[in-house]
Amino acid sequence: MSHSTSLVKKTSHGANMRPMAIEQQPLTAEKRLLLEHEHVPGINKIDVYSSKGGYEALKTVLKNKMTVDAIVDIMKKSGLRGRGGAGFPTGSKWSFVPKNDGKAHYLLCNADESEPGTFKDRVILEKLPHMMIEGMIIGSYAIAAKKSYIYIRGEYTYAALAIEKAIQEAYQAGFLGKDILGSGFDHDMYVHRGAGAYICGEETGLISSLEGKKGWPKLKPPFPAVEGYLKSPTVVNNVETLAAVPWIIRNGPEAYAKFGTEKSKGTKMWSVSGDVNRPGVYELECGAPFKALLEDCCGGVRGGKKLKAIIPGGSSAPIVTAEEAYQMTLDYESIASKGSMLGSGGMIVLDETRDLVQVLKNLSEFYADESCGQCTPCREGTGWIEKILHSFTEKQARREDVDLLKNIASNLQGRTICVLADSIAMPVESYLKKFPQEFEKYLKKSTASGTRV
Ligand SMILES: Cc1cc2nc3c(=O)[nH]c(=O)nc-3n(C[C@H](O)[C@H](O)[C@H](O)COP(=O)(O)O)c2cc1C
Ligand code: SF4
Repeated sequence: MSHSTSLVKKTSHGANMRPMAIEQQPLTAEKRLLLEHEHVPGINKIDVYSSKGGYEALKTVLKNKMTVDAIVDIMKKSGLRGRGGAGFPTGSKWSFVPKNDGKAHYLLCNADESEPGTFKDRVILEKLPHMMIEGMIIGSYAIAAKKSYIYIRGEYTYAALAIEKAIQEAYQAGFLGKDILGSGFDHDMYVHRGAGAYICGEETGLISSLEGKKGWPKLKPPFPAVEGYLKSPTVVNNVETLAAVPWIIRNGPEAYAKFGTEKSKGTKMWSVSGDVNRPGVYELECGAPFKALLEDCCGGVRGGKKLKAIIPGGSSAPIVTAEEAYQMTLDYESIASKGSMLGSGGMIVLDETRDLVQVLKNLSEFYADESCGQCTPCREGTGWIEKILHSFTEKQARREDVDLLKNIASNLQGRTICVLADSIAMPVESYLKKFPQEFEKYLKKSTASGTRV
């Protein structure tokens, strides 16, 4: 084994990880605000986290008796947008919770992370649990919530244990429980483990599940900020969103807003998988070029192959061609200008050899399986899409199936309770529009005769 290969760590499934020497320091393309201390030994423990400035933000908030309005104002000024998918401004979301309404309020941390291609929250949950917990306590104080819950994906056993342990430490240190730091603010935090349903990541589905019901989404309005968990005002925030809160309070909103673009502030964590040399989780300034992530962080396309396409923001994001990707910067607006979305930041890289009809078929199986079945267009439509895509790969597609797919995709959108239906409809439309030749290849091979009845 050569010296350079011995530096490359292998995961249990054999994938190359970042070389150990590099792992200790940020790559030049990275801007590590949240992940600054990711590799500090023991950073998951409260004493090490505190030695790096951890819980200082909470102390600032509570000891200075900061008002709710002041905290919300800081979040608004920072420009932080929700990192769970929709990119909704966090400060505004917190400001929608009614004040002095006499009701219990709740903060729910969405740690369901089930979207194919997305695994960035896991790094925070496992390695930096106190950063998220600190953000949750500050967020709870800002919306006057005496209880908060971490709804964590069932399969994240190790992460759930790490969080449980960190919560215990926070209680022992007096950051949770009664009269936190003598402020008069009481707060309890709980972990709730999911049971493996993607739909429980949708905020109203999550709330239903936490209430002990089927994880079925609900029509909005009412929005959770007004009527959420147990019919009380509730904020649902993503893990990464909440983990950004302590940094913003400690360094000030202006410092955070200095990074990024006009409308996409700060940094974003990207989980990159697929055909790259170094898959993994990277934090970059919003507005960084896509090429910096692909080449500097991920070591380029695996095997020296050419890039065919990327799925930028989790599997529900429409596909982006290689040409578009290289023109793109990593912010909400630039990705939207390519007809896609930043979403969760779960990027899937596809090289020139990838068969995109197979990729789409694979995704369609996931969405058909995960549809909760409440809405007819989603329940039936996701299954139809899956079946038609199967007919392509089994050489049984007919020419009219292209229009049929377009028709189903268009009829799925905007007609359902939640956007799971759109999450497969939009990709279908984008693959057909940007890569028609991939479907044509299968139509030429098809042995089907007659028309579909
Ligand atoms: C089908 C579906 C699954 C979702 N899964 C997640 C998830 O796993 N984690 C998450 O944070 N948001 C997920 N979301 C988005 C949430 O509904 C919600 O917008 C988010 O948790 C809000 O947090 P943020 O404002 O901090 O982004 C999902 C949405 C849909 C439609
Ligand atoms: S769109 Fe699909 S997943 Fe969402 S509520 Fe309707 S049936 Fe359930």
